[in-house]
Amino acid sequence: MKNLHRRSFLKGLAALSGAVISGVAGARNANGNTAAPETVEAPALPWGYEELDPEYLRKLGHLGYYAFECAGGSFWALVTALKETIGYPYTLIPLPAMEEVIHHLENKKSGKHLQVMMQFGVGGVANYGSLCGAPNGVSSAINIALPMADVKTIVPRLMRYYEQTPFPSDKSNEYGVNKAFYPPKCKSNKSLPQSASNSVLCHVSVGKWCEKAGYASGSKERSERCARVTGDITAMAGTLLNAHMKGEVPTLLPMKISRKTAGCRTCHSKGKKYETGQFTRGMMECGSCHDDMRPHLGENKLKTVYGEDIGKWTGAAAIGTAAGIGVHAAGKRFGRGETDNEE
Ligand code: HEC
Ligand code: HEC
Repeated sequence: MKNLHRRSFLKGLAALSGAVISGVAGARNANGNTAAPETVEAPALPWGYEELDPEYLRKLGHLGYYAFECAGGSFWALVTALKETIGYPYTLIPLPAMEEVIHHLENKKSGKHLQVMMQFGVGGVANYGSLCGAPNGVSSAINIALPMADVKTIVPRLMRYYEQTPFPSDKSNEYGVNKAFYPPKCKSNKSLPQSASNSVLCHVSVGKWCEKAGYASGSKERSERCARVTGDITAMAGTLLNAHMKGEVPTLLPMKISRKTAGCRTCHSKGKKYETGQFTRGMMECGSCHDDMRPHLGENKLKTVYGEDIGKWTGAAAIGTAAGIGVHAAGKRFGRGETDNEE
């Protein structure tokens, strides 16, 4: 009901401000940039969501990659679909239409440059190899559509899905082989090898895939793989958003961190008890980076801000026990939604 009200409210706004918006589109200054308009003011976020077709989003995300790479691509895809379905205020975001993107890809040698928001997220933030651009870009679009409380329910699930899922999906491989994707020409039409990264990092995700597939990081196949991953993540974002409209996100994709990570988080989570390990935060798969637990065995080297030793840590056996009990406790914590406070 809430969504319906929001929708008619937004459509009302669209009708009211239509003249202003089209006026803006026409006003360009000497540099070809849009001149500062007098009256347009974007409404406060969030801008709302309406049900979208995840398979359309998969193809749109894949196309987006070809023009804007992973982060720009997933952002472009979700916002474009919202713009097509809802219209204003999504029309306020500078975003080339699908036809323009395809035309651009057909005439790449024209030298024309297309740019969208979130494009900096490419290759784990400007090729730095940190967070994969696909979840980064699409999360930014989710952030425009939904209230923050819902963003914090959906985005960690998307990240967890990213860690666990062997990409590219069967569906994406099928579209690739059947030439069902939108770009005029794809870099590969093969069914590509699949691998789960156990990590949200571009560096790990690409590295593991390359190692498994036998293709170099600069190969056309790796690039096509990332286009399909972008499509897959955009599709999952749509699936989660659709479920959100029915209040079904937790049942569709329960937030299940691994047993190991849940164990670590019984001590290492965001909190006030420095001595017990609460000097870290996060839900990433701990085991993807930490496998040497020997430091827990030795003398406790922790210093507080006051420079005092906090004493001896009780040892590995205790950790095993605590983790055993802890998994259960951590599971419960997630169930109660306390992770929403993980800021
Ligand atoms: C992407 C890799 C990565 C992941 C995933 C990861 N960590 Fe870390 N963690 C690091 C690095 C790097 C350091 C810094 C190590 C150092 O400086 O000695 C660190 C430090 C720590 C420290 C010590 C704090 C400090 O500053 O010395 C703890 C405790 C820790 N991590 C726990 C965890 C837990 C629990 C998880 C899972 C929820 C996790 N880490 C996930 C890479 C990672
Ligand atoms: C029972 C509580 C507990 C559990 C469970 C636990 N830790 Fe720790 N951990 C600590 C405490 C306390 C310290 C600080 C000890 C010190 O630095 O001397 C610590 C230190 C660390 C450090 C820093 C080590 C260093 O060299 O300074 C890392 C990394 C770490 N833990 C990772 C993990 C990971 C990963 C897991 C899960 C596999 C885990 N811990 C499970 C309590 C725990």
